[in-house]
Amino acid sequence: MKASSYAALRDFIYATAGIQLGESKQALVLARVGQRLRALGLDDPDAYIREVLQHQDQEEIVHLLDAISTNFTSFFREEAHFHRLTGILRDWKSQGQKKFRIWCAAASTGEEPYTLSMVCQEALGDFSDLKILCTDISTRVLETGRRGVYHLSKMDPVPPQSLQRWFGPPDEESFVSAKPALRGPLSFARLNLAEVPYPMKGPFDVVFCRNVMIYFDVAGRTRFVTEAARLLRPGGFLFVGHAESVAGIAPGFRAVAPSVYQRVVHG
Ligand SMILES: C[S@@+](CC[C@H](N)C(=O)[O-])C[C@H]1O[C@@H](n2cnc3c(N)ncnc32)[C@H](O)[C@@H]1O
Repeated sequence: MKASSYAALRDFIYATAGIQLGESKQALVLARVGQRLRALGLDDPDAYIREVLQHQDQEEIVHLLDAISTNFTSFFREEAHFHRLTGILRDWKSQGQKKFRIWCAAASTGEEPYTLSMVCQEALGDFSDLKILCTDISTRVLETGRRGVYHLSKMDPVPPQSLQRWFGPPDEESFVSAKPALRGPLSFARLNLAEVPYPMKGPFDVVFCRNVMIYFDVAGRTRFVTEAARLLRPGGFLFVGHAESVAGIAPGFRAVAPSVYQRVVHG
């Protein structure tokens, strides 16, 4: 790929998804674009990029974003957040709250949503009105999330009693499937965090947006945090990745722990 094509692609991805691709990402991006070219039976990356950028075919743009986004995730990733969430939910429940609305804003292949569903249901019991909206820019990962089928090798972080309660027995190829009760609260939808305002009305009690803001610059992070403040109810919580911080860009929040913020009641 020519340097000028890479530069044009980088600018386009930044403008479209807020994702910053540094020079160091060039090899990775080339490999990912290469995969997309093979899927299309094409062999000229410069022509492909020119075509996508000129004609702005929305379907192809979604495929390109799918190819470029980094989707690493796991069950119970950054586990301390889930212990904290359990405490928060139990407090709210003991205060009489019955309805809980959660948004998982970069849901990737579903491990984080299904972890949330397990943790929330185990903390709240069966008699709560729980809904968890799961969004991502990539249609490919959302499809995997909707399917809810994972190889046993991914399930190590799931406590054995939770695995048995919420997933069916492994099939002959060692895949397990989320049971209907675990899927029940989850819904999956495509949402680009770079396009504001977001179409939801809220209010949410809890927003998880972990390990995606690292790809955004300050403008992109501010855009998200401003929308999160609008959509979270006062007293609700925002969880970001352990390597992320919204310090200095989140006037509507107070930090309650590293990477955990509470929407202030008046603000
Ligand atoms: C590294 S994964 C993190 C997944 C999960 N939140 C976790 O912490 O394990 C980042 C996810 O953010 C998504 N993403 C990247 N840019 C996005 C954007 N502009 N809007 C919505 N999702 C985006 C990617 O598709 C990917 O699935």
